[in-house]
Amino acid sequence: MSSAALANPLSVAEQQHLRELAHAAAANSYSPYSHFRVGAALLLTDGSIVTGCNVENCSYRLTSCAEQAAIARAVSERGPSIRLRAVAVANLNGSASMPCGACRQTLSEFGDDDVVILYPGEGGSGESTTLGALLPHAFRMQFLEPK
Ligand code: THU
Repeated sequence: MSSAALANPLSVAEQQHLRELAHAAAANSYSPYSHFRVGAALLLTDGSIVTGCNVENCSYRLTSCAEQAAIARAVSERGPSIRLRAVAVANLNGSASMPCGACRQTLSEFGDDDVVILYPGEGGSGESTTLGALLPHAFRMQFLEPK
């Protein structure tokens, strides 16, 4: 685990709870094409948790990842000022899986580099990293400001 993650620690119980909620959320996945059922659980800085699952579409590119669905739900339910503390992802295929590139950018809109990312590793191990480690040099809203 990186030093950034150590600055934003979650207890073992908090991590386990978040992973379980992500796993439970995956049960609602709509994934008739990939059959890869994914769930995500966002721990917000106010302590609340919001979950989501992937929602596929026959026009494949319109598929929403679990992380994106959870972010959309969190903003819809709690407003535009949500901030992330940690994110757990899970799948029902028993596969190792990290947030995809697009999801990393989506998450970075609402979280700093020290957001903890919990994900399944090889052989069912519970792995963790940080958003900054997954997406160094994220594109940030500050870049949009004219100089
Ligand atoms: N998927 C996610 O939900 N999150 C990710 O970070 C990676 C991929 C979904 C999208 C698609 O429905 C399925 O997994 C296969 O790519």
